[in-house]
Amino acid sequence: MTVHIGAKPGDIAETVLMPGDPYRAKWAAETFLTDAVCTNEVRGMLGFTGMWNGNRVTIQGSGMGMPSMSIYANELIKDYNAQTLIRIGSCGAMQDETKVRDVVLAMTACSSGTPSDTIFKEVNYAPVCDFGLLQAAHAAAHKRGTRTHVGSIYSSDTFYAERNDLTEQMIRHGVLAVEMEAAELYILAARYKRRALAVMTVSDHIITGEALPSDQRERSFGDMVEIALEAAFT
Ligand code: ADE
Repeated sequence: MTVHIGAKPGDIAETVLMPGDPYRAKWAAETFLTDAVCTNEVRGMLGFTGMWNGNRVTIQGSGMGMPSMSIYANELIKDYNAQTLIRIGSCGAMQDETKVRDVVLAMTACSSGTPSDTIFKEVNYAPVCDFGLLQAAHAAAHKRGTRTHVGSIYSSDTFYAERNDLTEQMIRHGVLAVEMEAAELYILAARYKRRALAVMTVSDHIITGEALPSDQRERSFGDMVEIALEAAFT
């Protein structure tokens, strides 16, 4: 057990999918895994371990924002020996061609700061995903016919943005989408020599204001989970 995860040693698989929402972890485990058992209930941040196509997988909620992601990713890596960590979640599109329901694969994630800033101080470290995972996820998405974009995203500290000028510069510089967790996950993976990727479904559009209707969320999120699982075990 760690401070935030109640699982016993060995309860967590080497491959971990990390949705922000603990109830999405439950839904994904019930929908895609066989023999899933609940491995964490501490603070309601649900985690499950089960099997997918003969492979052992954990799906553990990360919570929202980089401080929360940092807690769970640190413990999964250092205490449970997680080797492959894939964020699955939603993002807000920042480009015209990035449509609601599309999938975004984050090659890199910019931010105005991460929990790791105390290490880097004046340096703007460039967090990057694992290239092999990215390639595999892209191939899996292509095979499924899912509209997919690969590029940079913005890991924001706020859901309710107050700075229109910053949003405009992100759009101008080709940032595909905004979310709140990937940059710190990538930095931790680099630090501990693990593999990480963020696979996200566009749930809302920053420019048009369009949002995915709640009845269509499940299907779109399902695509993303299967892309992440295929990428992990390619
Ligand atoms: N996740 C999904 N949509 C988002 C948005 N608009 N801002 C930040 N994170 C998000």
